[in-house]
Amino acid sequence: MPLKITPPAGAGSIAGRTVGRTLGTVERTAKQGVRWALGHGLPRTAIVRSARKGDLQGDLILSGPGSHTFDLVDLFEEFRARGPLYQGGFSHLAVDHEVIKEVLTSNDFITGFFAPDESGTGLLARAASWSASDVFAPLQPPSLLATEPPEHTRYRKLVTRVFTVRAVEKLRARTEEIARELLDDLEKEAASGADVDLVTRYCGLLPITVISEVLGVPVDLRERMLELGKGAALSLDIGLGWRTFRDMEASLEEFDTWLRGHLEYLAEHPGDDLLSQLVALRDDGDRLSERELRAIAGLVFAAGFETTVNLIGNGIALLHDNPAQLEVLKAQPDLWSNASDEILRLDPPVLLTGRVARRDSTIAGQAIPRGTIINTVLAAANRDPAVFTDPHTFDVTRENARDHLSFSSGRHFCLGAALARMEGEIGLRLLFERFPDLKLRDDRERHPTRILRGYSHLPARLS
Ligand code: HEM
Repeated sequence: MPLKITPPAGAGSIAGRTVGRTLGTVERTAKQGVRWALGHGLPRTAIVRSARKGDLQGDLILSGPGSHTFDLVDLFEEFRARGPLYQGGFSHLAVDHEVIKEVLTSNDFITGFFAPDESGTGLLARAASWSASDVFAPLQPPSLLATEPPEHTRYRKLVTRVFTVRAVEKLRARTEEIARELLDDLEKEAASGADVDLVTRYCGLLPITVISEVLGVPVDLRERMLELGKGAALSLDIGLGWRTFRDMEASLEEFDTWLRGHLEYLAEHPGDDLLSQLVALRDDGDRLSERELRAIAGLVFAAGFETTVNLIGNGIALLHDNPAQLEVLKAQPDLWSNASDEILRLDPPVLLTGRVARRDSTIAGQAIPRGTIINTVLAAANRDPAVFTDPHTFDVTRENARDHLSFSSGRHFCLGAALARMEGEIGLRLLFERFPDLKLRDDRERHPTRILRGYSHLPARLS
């Protein structure tokens, strides 16, 4: 299977090719610089400047790397005390469950920073389109996360044709099998008396093994994919420094190069997997372009392992720290599925998402001019006392735990929610059944990402 794409053959003399290559490198670097400035440098400057004037938003968007969702709870409450829609210098911010749902389901709000200039003639829009890269990026069109109807509807219809609820349910038995295999390995290791890092040896491996099998990705690539995923996860953050941004783009580029080769391979050697089916759909009436297919496949694959790892990791930490809740689950194992939702509610893998007003509109009684960005803090909506009684309490028997917004809402509602819930439930139940006395060490560590939240290390003594 090809891992590299052959660069286009250069024309003319060697000197001509050298000049051409140099110009190409200069242009590539300039475009990368513009992408960094638009997505990180300028927003960071604006956020820091308004934070100096007392805007609370900087504390949230630029919160210290590795900070815990729980560390932000006081900040959520400060926003909540100021009303349903906080007006910051950089954008508006919503923490109220009802308001967030309204924004996410409204046709007046769309994804993407430059979207209000739909004509594409404004300076920022032109700079964005000049510097746009062809490399897969989760928040760049034609990714599902960055497109709107009619394209979004068309892409989503195609993916849901192969990614059906039935297809996910069929995976339940296989997910259990994979989890048991991973636990067997852990058991052998624990028998030698060694401590085990549950993130690298379990939480990370379970979702990537499942999604790799579903999509027909060779399972022996999973360690490399996890490494690339770690770098690429930063692409959801705002305000990255230049060097981190370049490293992040390098991860995306390597992933993209592999993906191109893999899709070409599947087109010629289709397997019995969902990605092969998606590739084949291209020749159906709907005809996804190569770029569209890459964007969809890349997102489904990356989202398939970059988030669920955090659901399982956050769940292990919550259950370990709340042994009484673990006892409830031992007595009533049918509550595991609800427990998975309660974990998603209290410590969600995705902190926030955002939308921009495509036309003048009104939210929570406030006039919202066209072009306004609203950050919707999903983690704060999940602790809205108007919806959840004792919102800061971890309660696996909570009747409306499933009303959380951790999978978003509206037309961008997480496409993998059923799979993630199933993996979370199975992954956690089987782990605690096998190692009921597991003890986490004190030196757990969080990921440096801000939007995606979870642990990078959970060292544990298993027996
Ligand atoms: C616990 C795990 C997961 C969480 C917390 C999560 C969260 C989210 C959120 C918040 C969004 C919407 C963002 C927005 O509205 O701007 C989303 C979208 C999406 N998720 Fe997930 N996700 C998870 C697992 C998965 C899995 C396992 C897959 C794939 C198999 C997946 C695939 C997707 C896709 C393709 C979208 C884009 C949908 C669209 O824009 O139409 N996710 N996810």
